[in-house]
Amino acid sequence: MRFSTTRFMKIDLAGAPKFGAELQALTSLLGTVADEPKHRCVLITHVLDTAVAYVEAVNNVFPVVRIVAIPYSASPSAVRTLRSRGFNVIVPASIPEIFTESEKQVTEALQESQVPLLVQEVGGYLAHASAKLSTFSHFLGVVEDTNNGHWLYESTGPHPIPVLSMAQSPLKSIEDSIIGDAVLFSIERILREDFAAICQGMRCAVIGFGKIGRSTAVALKGREAVVSIYDINPSIDISAKVEGFFPMPLHDLLPTSDLVVGCTGQTSIRLVDMPFIKDGAILASASSKAIEFALSDFGRECTVEKFSDIIWRYSQYNGKKFYVLLKGTPVNFRDGSILGTILDMIYCELFLCMREVAARKAPLGLSKSPPPIQEEVAKAWLKHHSDDFIRAMDDKVWEYPDSLKLGLPKF
Ligand SMILES: NC(=O)c1ccc[n+]([C@@H]2O[C@H](COP(=O)([O-])OP(=O)(O)OC[C@H]3O[C@@H](n4cnc5c(N)ncnc54)[C@H](O)[C@@H]3O)[C@@H](O)[C@H]2O)c1
Repeated sequence: MRFSTTRFMKIDLAGAPKFGAELQALTSLLGTVADEPKHRCVLITHVLDTAVAYVEAVNNVFPVVRIVAIPYSASPSAVRTLRSRGFNVIVPASIPEIFTESEKQVTEALQESQVPLLVQEVGGYLAHASAKLSTFSHFLGVVEDTNNGHWLYESTGPHPIPVLSMAQSPLKSIEDSIIGDAVLFSIERILREDFAAICQGMRCAVIGFGKIGRSTAVALKGREAVVSIYDINPSIDISAKVEGFFPMPLHDLLPTSDLVVGCTGQTSIRLVDMPFIKDGAILASASSKAIEFALSDFGRECTVEKFSDIIWRYSQYNGKKFYVLLKGTPVNFRDGSILGTILDMIYCELFLCMREVAARKAPLGLSKSPPPIQEEVAKAWLKHHSDDFIRAMDDKVWEYPDSLKLGLPKF
């Protein structure tokens, strides 16, 4: 098969925000999709400034006919830039609206043209629409980026369309391991600016000790906070204990914690837990949507006041108060979440998953991004972001996994 090696030259990154422009690995992979036919795509995604270069890169291969922005992560400057470059960016007013708007926009895009269409999304926003979308023979399928979306597709399946998820890929775990630092950056900024407080010595609870929880706990410990965790899974509590994060029962942990960071992707603090929250505690989410805290239930039992542009104060009838940051949405999106070359890696895997779906190679139903995609991404990333490996083009990594056989005993 012949691939175009010139298409990426057409990408104009000159005017893109500087921190979104370093997508050399992704750029190198664009030519791996045959020039024609050009399938269209819809992106349901975080429109951060860092996403502008990604959208433009994808658009060169799979013309982007609509972008549904996640409202809590829609950067006004990124939305403006994309619109000024001719992209149709829709910003729903609320999280529930993302579901209805996503289905509506994808359906309209399918009705207006017979050119095949795929979707790349970040939260299972089409999970309830898969049967309807399967009635369009030119609908190719969905690429899902997040665990929250993966779980939603899992719980609403089986799906009569391909749903290729990279949420649980080993490369995604690399991103997850640096999310905690982004979460802490945003929490620290709010602590300093709005509470005149710092993390050092603060008693902190991390709820959920999975990939995001561990990464958040490590980041908090690095700031010399006193970190305890609670996970609903008893084995994970043991694993936290041996890593030095003291696990405690939830109703013992909440009364002693000044900061509670929800990292489960579920509703981890429910109404029954509310009386245990320490007076004056701050609740922040590191997960998805506004799922982590039962805020509407809390609202029925508390007086809710706007404390600042980003903080809401919940006063219970017994006089105790607690504070919720950013309406319970993930705090790290306030500050651009993660930056740097790891983004290039994530975008590469998303793009190769799109290539897989566009080529109708992904099976019907929910499936996971296969290892050969991760190997292709990792090699492209090393080739563009590691001078040491670039200088060692005879190294065994380039032939992995075939090179594994070189170490096998010869019989
Ligand atoms: N903020 C971000 O930028 C960002 C980035 C990646 C993922 N996420 C989201 O973070 C969430 C967590 O993802 P993950 O990859 O860490 O998942 P994970 O499966 O690795 O970890 C979740 C952990 O939460 C625990 N848990 C589940 N329900 C619980 C409950 N009610 N109480 C206590 N513990 C509970 C599970 O046992 C598990 O250990 C997901 O919603 C994911 O989409 C957010």
